[in-house]
Amino acid sequence: MINSPTHALVRSIPRSYKDYYAKKNIDISYGLAESQHEKYIQTLKDAGLKISTVPADETKPDCVFIEDTAIIWQTHALITRMNPVRDGEQAAVEETLKPTHTITHMPSVAKIEGGDVLHTENTTYVGLSARTNSMGAECLKNFLKKFGRPVVRVPVEKCLHLKSGVTYIGDNTLVAVPGWFDMSLFDAENIIYTKEGEEGAANCMRIPNNLLVQSQYPKTAKLLEHFAADKGLQFHPLDTSEFVKADGALTCLSLLW
Ligand code: GLY
Repeated sequence: MINSPTHALVRSIPRSYKDYYAKKNIDISYGLAESQHEKYIQTLKDAGLKISTVPADETKPDCVFIEDTAIIWQTHALITRMNPVRDGEQAAVEETLKPTHTITHMPSVAKIEGGDVLHTENTTYVGLSARTNSMGAECLKNFLKKFGRPVVRVPVEKCLHLKSGVTYIGDNTLVAVPGWFDMSLFDAENIIYTKEGEEGAANCMRIPNNLLVQSQYPKTAKLLEHFAADKGLQFHPLDTSEFVKADGALTCLSLLW
């Protein structure tokens, strides 16, 4: 399957994460966020990934959501163009990737964040969202052309990023929120739909023989546990409560290759 990474890049949580969201009346426990982050990293390690960590940037409260800064395909990295509040998070990530990846940049009129990019076996989907525009999608298409991967655009209206509402968990299976996207655009054979009131559960991660899901969504987690058992996967329910409060989830917390 496509998702057979050997490395994960994560980013430490800045202290400013809590303060930034407190100003928006969102109460984040820094200590709990740290312990959830540690558990997440340990799960990636146990799944066999080599972990590297970019230090936190206190001037960038959302920088723990490292997925948005780059799109990686094998040893190539496309550095994204992010929304103004987060723009600048990319620099330290680019420095870290430079020794191992060929770096590609895009013009400033392009906008794209990694949360809008979803790979299945043969296709890459890009969300056209508040964070990703047509030019960003075009840059992604050009970047992936040399790998023979078609890019399909998916309108995103109900959530922040495409992967807030749909992810690919291998074995030709998507997890998606019912009614959020035109599912006829996708080529996967099977779709597991999130249960009512558990929209956040759509964000899952498959790392070869492991399935990571969010434990706060028990009804959907049950469906995903059955899927994992059926496919012989290790099942990892992880609590992401302190990241969901900031519109984050599992995939946002790492870059994989
Ligand atoms: N809080 C996640 C984001 O704005 O990208």
